[in-house]
Amino acid sequence: MSHALSDPALAASAREFLLEELSQLGVDYLARRQIPQAPSMPDSLEQIQAEIAACQNCELACSRTQTVPGSGSASARVVFVGEAPGAEEDLQGQPFVGPAGQLLDKIIESGMGLRRADVFILNILKCRPPGNRDPLATEKQACTPFLQRQLHALRPDIVICLGRHAANYFIGSDLTLGQLRGRLHQSTSGIPILATYHPAYLLRTPSAKVDCWQDIQIAMNHLGLKRPGAAQ
Ligand code: URA
Repeated sequence: MSHALSDPALAASAREFLLEELSQLGVDYLARRQIPQAPSMPDSLEQIQAEIAACQNCELACSRTQTVPGSGSASARVVFVGEAPGAEEDLQGQPFVGPAGQLLDKIIESGMGLRRADVFILNILKCRPPGNRDPLATEKQACTPFLQRQLHALRPDIVICLGRHAANYFIGSDLTLGQLRGRLHQSTSGIPILATYHPAYLLRTPSAKVDCWQDIQIAMNHLGLKRPGAAQ
């Protein structure tokens, strides 16, 4: 049975109403300590996607062809996060659909034994920076609430950061990928974070694929996944 207070907005206004009443009785301090904040219910991925499509929070809204909110399974245990959409993604509205995306598909399918539809693929930015330049700090800031809400809705078992920018963004550091990869980190919200090379870098530097494979195995051990083809 749904209850009115399961609506976070209603719960918050009920709490404020109670606090106001109690404060008039002179028990403001006590009230604020004893009435807990209602835990926020995640918005649906569809709701967040609709807000992304309408977003005008930074100047990328003027140059984008379309937004790229991310795609995949709402029950994904694994979320991959890249930096920002490129030209092909901007045209199709889907993440990682260019050459780097084809390599990511191989990592997911041949490497992990999953399907692209089993995982969720996101970017920090939901719009393409012109000429594929690095995202500005202001653009990341404007997009952060969307990413936070998406992760709140997905609650994955692991976030795999593709490349230095995504990894530093999550880990709150300014390190090289070489310094970040090879082990699990913890995000401030408690989600395990793994950093590995961006597929575009792997296309330019195939020798780094060995390191990427080691990283993916760390993720698979964490998830209890067997290598495809390995004995059960
Ligand atoms: N590179 C990214 O970081 N994201 C994409 O979606 C495509 C390429």
